[in-house]
Amino acid sequence: MSHTPTESTGGGRRLGEPTPVELLDAGERMSREELRSHQLVQLRATLRHAYDHVELYRRKFDAAGVKPEDCRTLEDIARFPFTTKADLRDSYPFGMFAVPMAEVRRLHASSGTTGRPTVVGYTEHDLSLWADLVARCIRAAGGRSGHRVHIAYGYGLFTGGLGAHYGAERLGCTVIPASGGMTARQVQLIQDLRPEIIMVTPSYLLTLLDEFERQGIDPRGTSLRTGIFGAEPWTEEMRREIEQRMGIHAVDIYGLSEALGPGVAQECVETKDGLHLWEDHFLPEIVDPLTDRVLPDGTGGELILTSLTKEALPVIRYRTRDLTRLLPGTARPAFRRIEKITARCDDMIILRGVNVFPSQIEEIALRTPGVAPHFQLRLSRRGRLDHMTVRVEARPDTGPERRAAAAEEIVRSVKDGVGVTVEVEVVDPETLERSVGKIRRVVDLRER
Ligand code: DLL
Repeated sequence: MSHTPTESTGGGRRLGEPTPVELLDAGERMSREELRSHQLVQLRATLRHAYDHVELYRRKFDAAGVKPEDCRTLEDIARFPFTTKADLRDSYPFGMFAVPMAEVRRLHASSGTTGRPTVVGYTEHDLSLWADLVARCIRAAGGRSGHRVHIAYGYGLFTGGLGAHYGAERLGCTVIPASGGMTARQVQLIQDLRPEIIMVTPSYLLTLLDEFERQGIDPRGTSLRTGIFGAEPWTEEMRREIEQRMGIHAVDIYGLSEALGPGVAQECVETKDGLHLWEDHFLPEIVDPLTDRVLPDGTGGELILTSLTKEALPVIRYRTRDLTRLLPGTARPAFRRIEKITARCDDMIILRGVNVFPSQIEEIALRTPGVAPHFQLRLSRRGRLDHMTVRVEARPDTGPERRAAAAEEIVRSVKDGVGVTVEVEVVDPETLERSVGKIRRVVDLRER
């Protein structure tokens, strides 16, 4: 690997070397036909496993009048009921586990900002397949056995840290389990231990970049070559900023605790064109979030996932709430891609009739000097009207004048670009509340 990305497709999007065929695993070498027949066998087994061992699935299937054996083709999945986060919450903590607790080797919990968290469990087999999939992700990002991987996703109940950790070990990398926080020390670790790869939320990487600059270190001169960023939405503009400021490849990793954790889908470094979804372990569908109708490939909607190989917590038609579309495979032709996820259905704000997505605000923040793309949208009601305040963090060293000018610029850009009037507050760096490195994008203070 050369130190800085070599090829460019323009627009700052630099591409890396493809993975040599001999490094691909057996799943990645399947043809589309082989994959589909594998999926059907696994789907039927998973439906049976869920029906036989989880009361909630048995009740839901019975209520919908379907039995596992009614699934004869992959398309038959559409006859089965959806599963939601509320189902998991209602069966808190272990009600949806499909194996005896004695077989559960690990628990994680998702970062619920309200109410009870959702608890997820893994058997020995689940942990091993998770490590295999994350290893596949790191390899697709350009990682190889022998590379050093700095992991700054939080370790603990969040799936990011430990998920990345065991995947990197499985690939044969040397892991630096930094976890999140203590930003100055992270910079020192990167300088001294010289990792090639970093795995971290994109917003925390920006905080690290600021710290490099604060310490007078050129972030383009580090040993890092690739960053694998996920756990929260990030845009092409953010990719450009990271790649330019750090001189690394920035690729996207997707996952969610209910389905597995990180490692459900990964962008390949040689194409950077969306994330290949590992269809040998998950069957994806896209549905219209309002009508629940299954939509054809290429059409945007909510991603629905059915696990095909998990034991402890099989998920059937899980509603991710993430918005994307399915596209044909490129760097891994047998697997379809999902388009980069920049919004969730429940993040879309309708403000005085105008649809507003947090990603639009992120793009504006990235273009505005003096502020960081760390922001929160607060909705309130003034009289009869909905009102939105954008709270955005200043970059370190931004003085009061520049902050005021930035606030005015953002008001103008949102008005021009999105079509709504908002109020903007530029707050001090690191003051918006974060949970496992993610800022809650939308806070709705309106009375229902
Ligand atoms: O965030 C798992 C993960 C850890 C993925 C590290 C990637 C890297 P949860 O805490 O359950 O799990 O949150 C899952 O985060 O439904 C998306 O809304 C969002 N998300 C995760 N990855 C991405 C991504 C982990 N690459 C929820 N792009 C998901 C956009 C993402 N959103």
